[in-house]
Amino acid sequence: MSKRVLTTESGAPVADNQNSASAGVGGPLLLQDQHLLEKLARFNRERIPERVVHARGSGAYGHFTVTDDVSDLTSAAFLSTVGKRTELFTRFSTVADNLGGADAVRDPRGFAVKFYTEEGNYDLVGNNTPVFFIKDPLKFPDFIHSQKRDPFTGKQEPDNVWDFWAHAPEATHQVTWLMGDRGIPASYRHMNGYGSHTYQWTNAAGDAFFVKYHFKTNQGIRSLSAEQGQELAGKDANSHQTDLLQAIERGVHPSWTLYVQVMPAAEADGYRFNPFDLTKVWPHADYPLRRVGRLVLDRNPDNVFAEVEQAAFSPNNFVPGIGPSPDKMLQGRLFAYADAHRYRLGVNHTQLAVNAPRATTADNYGRDGLMAANAQPRGEKNYEPNSYGGPAETGTPLSAPLAVHGHTGTHEAPAHSKDDHFFQAGELYRLMSEEERGRLVANIAGGLSQVSREDVIEKNLAHFHAADPEYGKRVEAAVQALREG
Ligand code: HEM
Repeated sequence: MSKRVLTTESGAPVADNQNSASAGVGGPLLLQDQHLLEKLARFNRERIPERVVHARGSGAYGHFTVTDDVSDLTSAAFLSTVGKRTELFTRFSTVADNLGGADAVRDPRGFAVKFYTEEGNYDLVGNNTPVFFIKDPLKFPDFIHSQKRDPFTGKQEPDNVWDFWAHAPEATHQVTWLMGDRGIPASYRHMNGYGSHTYQWTNAAGDAFFVKYHFKTNQGIRSLSAEQGQELAGKDANSHQTDLLQAIERGVHPSWTLYVQVMPAAEADGYRFNPFDLTKVWPHADYPLRRVGRLVLDRNPDNVFAEVEQAAFSPNNFVPGIGPSPDKMLQGRLFAYADAHRYRLGVNHTQLAVNAPRATTADNYGRDGLMAANAQPRGEKNYEPNSYGGPAETGTPLSAPLAVHGHTGTHEAPAHSKDDHFFQAGELYRLMSEEERGRLVANIAGGLSQVSREDVIEKNLAHFHAADPEYGKRVEAAVQALREG
């Protein structure tokens, strides 16, 4: 094998990589030492802004295979026939902590999938929780500020976390979920993934359906208790990364089975609660699971920075046959992600290998910008329409249109007969075994008892009381015992 020569960034050979050039032996350094200057300057620029949420994560490649016919529901080509296989990339993440935070913490987990389909990339950017804390995107920056590090103390503060929830009764369902047994997954392999929002599928005849996605882990759900989580986070801050990396390297390929709940579009208006409310699940008795296919992860990325840190998932990357619902949170997210990518990675981030389409090519009149790597061939026109050829619109709508009515303004969600913030939190509580309820109450009290203001504690207690009187009483007693103890 021929010996590789160390070079500068411009390809010139480097003579000495151990001693910088100086003015004589023991003298100061020379400005002409291009290798030293370039090496230090390059090093200073290695980090890019971390994700404002979900900063800490792990990625893997794999594929999705359709196991069941869903062509009556969607015209998406990658879901069109049983046995069809599509390459994909996933990134799992924690939400609140910064890069370098521990994995085994009580926090939702991100579950983002990029399907490299022949009709373009389809990104499904979900969580391991079927619901979320809020239902209007206007509240998201405030919510995240309250959960991340305080600007003065530089730490996560129970005062801020619970003060936000005190003012967000709609969070009670998700708080119950997060404080329960599934709040600290044992690993990324041992948790489910959910699209959480309601999406719209459209079939070839133009019929519209609302769907919710459920990826069920085939490894089984495994979670950690608060004590186990604390111990593991102290021992191996990277426990989820270690687990996923090593499983795939050993050839143990994690998999998930994808199901959808399907609501014919005409049923949405009359459903007993708003089916686009992200703080609520659709009971399976109303809309049972329909199996779609299997997701398998079988390859680790070669380079974490290039492929995981630079991965850009965006809920507005749809393909024909799949589109958004009017869920306000989802609508807000349709803007937020690509905007974050333009800031974090630049306008040409879609040209990076992990983000670029693989089963088709992007072909449009977007041009130039910082770091444009894909130059168009000579003579290609950069405007449309033109008289010389080039890509043209299809004229075919991507998904069924939504009927809208009413006046513009800052409206609350449309009223349905059973819209209150608490009944599903109560239902979740009542589904739990006695032991689970005990752990849930202890976890909530552990956090809430650290809050310094009585009025904030009381507002939160009122939410648990409203969900279920027994739930409220038990949390209240546990908080009181911890504060007196
Ligand atoms: C209006 C509400 C929300 C806003 C404004 C928002 C915004 C963001 C932003 C700006 C990022 C960083 C993107 C990047 O730099 O690449 C992000 C990451 C992420 N968000 Fe959200 N988010 C919202 C709600 C949600 C919800 C409800 C879910 C799950 C159902 C979710 C799942 C994720 C995931 C999984 C990531 C990490 C993606 C990756 O691995 O790169 N977010 N979010």
